Amino acid sequence: MENMPYAEPWRIKMIESVKTLTKEERKKIIEKAEYNLFKVPAEDVFIDLLTDSGTGAMSDKQWSAIMLGDESYAGSKSFFNMKNTITDLLGFPYVLPTHQGRAAENVLFSVLIKEGNIIPGNAHFDTTKGHIEFRKATAVDCTIDEASDTTLYHPFKGNIDTKKLENVINKYGVENIPFVVLTVTCNTGGGQPVSMENIKAVSTLCKKHNITLIFDSARFAENAYFIKTREEGYQDKSIKEIVKEMFSYADGMTMSAKKDAIINIGGFIALRSNEIYQKACTFSIIFEGFVTYGGMSGRDMEALAAGLKEGTEYEYLHARISQVKYLGEKLKEAGIPLLEPFGGHAVYVDAKKFLPNIPQTQYPAQVLGVELYIEAGVRGVEIGTVLADRDPVTRQERPPKMELLRLAIPRRVYTNNHMDFIVWGLKKVWERRNELKGLKIKYEAEIMRHFTATFEQLS
Ligand code: F0G
Repeated sequence: MENMPYAEPWRIKMIESVKTLTKEERKKIIEKAEYNLFKVPAEDVFIDLLTDSGTGAMSDKQWSAIMLGDESYAGSKSFFNMKNTITDLLGFPYVLPTHQGRAAENVLFSVLIKEGNIIPGNAHFDTTKGHIEFRKATAVDCTIDEASDTTLYHPFKGNIDTKKLENVINKYGVENIPFVVLTVTCNTGGGQPVSMENIKAVSTLCKKHNITLIFDSARFAENAYFIKTREEGYQDKSIKEIVKEMFSYADGMTMSAKKDAIINIGGFIALRSNEIYQKACTFSIIFEGFVTYGGMSGRDMEALAAGLKEGTEYEYLHARISQVKYLGEKLKEAGIPLLEPFGGHAVYVDAKKFLPNIPQTQYPAQVLGVELYIEAGVRGVEIGTVLADRDPVTRQERPPKMELLRLAIPRRVYTNNHMDFIVWGLKKVWERRNELKGLKIKYEAEIMRHFTATFEQLS
């Protein structure tokens, strides 16, 4: 099976045209956007790799499920269909819909986090960290050290170092740690998976100290694919069996359904504890909506249920993750420095190695993103110093160990010709890398500055 070529287990039924611009036109556009790719109109992007979130192509089954949407305010059929699908697949009895992943964090963290708390995890995603810091609590990264060496091969770079975790528990005390958050796959760390062995070890440690374990599950199915293909003992298990086992070790989960459930908007919280669920219901009603829709329409809940089933099929995951690998391998052949192994949803370019002359405080990954856009109309996203924000207390820059440009691949959207085009574009930037200059921030928000910051080019 290893050497068999792969092809997508679907064919294209409908297409969406995209515009091609000249390099000169794109230079003007990015200048107007003040060098922030979030401010570039999507229409002016040729290949959009800003995110794999909400950008996937729904299937004919999902689109037909949309027609079945029950839009009742309370107790809609679509809610129960979604809830039963989640309970069947993931094993949690209590489900609260939310409009997306960060909304699930907002609702659940409103129940669990108090000022001064410590939330250990594996390189928390930015909204997760944002929701922790917003509540004047602290996210402590306990990822294994191997994860920050971009060239070191480790099959599960999303793993938590259980010694680090135990030290954090001993240092701050169980009473200050309401839960541990395990992100599967770990996006900030490079779309890297967490092994079943590690999930078990973290769960055992949490149980020993009576600490709740929550999975940030946006890409749980991709994580399961890596367990199947990389971890001993799982080759013959189905993705659905692996997923069931993964979640059996968690007390609850937050989900951005815009990723592995392949829908354009939506999310949920799923829990084992009725007590936490009851408390979360109140916050759901305040922030999101009544507990059987929580910010989602009935039709979107139907599409979510259908998408969860498709997103946990091996053939689909194999084609998806193989496409990401295809891009990674072609870029590697071209000599581009990358984070390895390649992630499940994205290839991450190592901007420190690509632009060694630009210091992190001049945002080399942002520079790279801007240049790739100018060169080829390809839009990636900075996962580096800009994203890391300033320290909330000292207001100093806090450059992360890795400075990356993420090229996230939307699900079922692009062909491998698009991948080849991206490689061509990045090679052109690589050829003129020595002429590139850093950026300086003109405006930034206090928290989550990357979305709205503006920059100027240093001469
Ligand atoms: N957790 C992880 C691991 C994520 O990657 C994201 C979103 C969220 C939570 C928040 O979910 O966007 O539905 O509110 N990641 C997107 C990305 C935005 O581009 O990686 P959301």
